[in-house]
Amino acid sequence: MIFSRLSPLLRIPALADLTRDTLLRMDAETAHGATIAALRMGLAPERSQPDAPELRTTICGLDLSNPVGMAAGFDKNAEVARPLALMGFGMVEIGTVTPRPQSGNPKPRLFRIPEAGGVINRMGFNNEGHDAAFARLKDQRVPAALGVNIGANKDSEDFVADYVLGVQRFADLADYLTVNVSSPNTPGLRNLQADEALRRLLGEVLAARAKARTHVPVFLKIAPDLDEASLDAIATVVLATDLDGLIVSNTTVTRDAVAGLENATETGGLSGKPLFTLATERLAQMRQRVGALPLIGVGGIHSPQTALAKIEAGANAIQLYSALVFGGLDMLDRLKQGLVTAIRAQGKRNLSDLVGTKTADWAAGRGEI
Ligand SMILES: Cc1cc2nc3c(=O)[nH]c(=O)nc-3n(C[C@H](O)[C@H](O)[C@H](O)COP(=O)(O)O)c2cc1C
Repeated sequence: MIFSRLSPLLRIPALADLTRDTLLRMDAETAHGATIAALRMGLAPERSQPDAPELRTTICGLDLSNPVGMAAGFDKNAEVARPLALMGFGMVEIGTVTPRPQSGNPKPRLFRIPEAGGVINRMGFNNEGHDAAFARLKDQRVPAALGVNIGANKDSEDFVADYVLGVQRFADLADYLTVNVSSPNTPGLRNLQADEALRRLLGEVLAARAKARTHVPVFLKIAPDLDEASLDAIATVVLATDLDGLIVSNTTVTRDAVAGLENATETGGLSGKPLFTLATERLAQMRQRVGALPLIGVGGIHSPQTALAKIEAGANAIQLYSALVFGGLDMLDRLKQGLVTAIRAQGKRNLSDLVGTKTADWAAGRGEI
């Protein structure tokens, strides 16, 4: 294939920069579509060497060759899970998928905040629905942990029933499932994080999981816009169930970190660099509440230092999305290499030795990168 012969060219920094600059000049959603198309055509560079043994990790029984995952929202329709895995992500989370297809909010609905390395989106769960994602995944061999992120249709009369359908559909196909109750772009969805609603949701989701042929780990993905009392309530509910872990966090509706900048007043969820401190503090505060429960840290990772800080704050594994918009897909290699260097510099054998070493600092708002 001509494309697979071309892909090593993208390893040449000047060409990679050229591609990135071209994408950054496009409207953000058009650029995303072009990236997905390129990946589908096999244009992505594949992992150049095996992951270093220091990066191997296990989370909820899933063996990851490295702890860095593609966060949900990049591959909403499971079109490029395999190329992403071949690029070297240790896990790839597709979705959010809803039972029925839906078009999402009117465009424009995706905005960059270039000065801050931030992104605001109000996509609104645009996706082709369970059937389309299922059909694509069943024929794709994905050499990484495959997560399916499930959600509810905007016009659904029963959000909980939509999540149950997601579990029923994907439990035997996915390596893990994520129950996403933290998108700010589906009215009412975040209310499912509240006490009684969360208890009912997790009860029904986990009952559906118990009926599946395979025991699939289930994560709950939460918002960063939660106060300490809400974190307490979520931790209490979660620890009373056999939920496998939490993903902290989704995007924020706050704007303090980008006030006054281009696009900052757009409605939606803010991600990328300006989310880093908030999401990392919430992660650490959750770590203090849930003991050894597996946590995936997401939000604002954009350098080896921020990847390491997430782990030190309490993440067993990490995910990212927005930094790839600005840094390009080769950001992944830089993160992994930086993590290996940090592990060796600290005289540790494995990344897991660094998990939670600075939880107290981050939880108290004293974390530093
Ligand atoms: C354009 C866009 C779409 C997203 N869509 C989803 C989604 O469908 N489901 C979900 O759980 N998170 C979604 N997210 C949130 C990301 O998975 C992630 O939690 C958040 O962006 C913080 O990570 P980051 O700062 O590395 O981007 C989306 C993020 C962006 C930027």
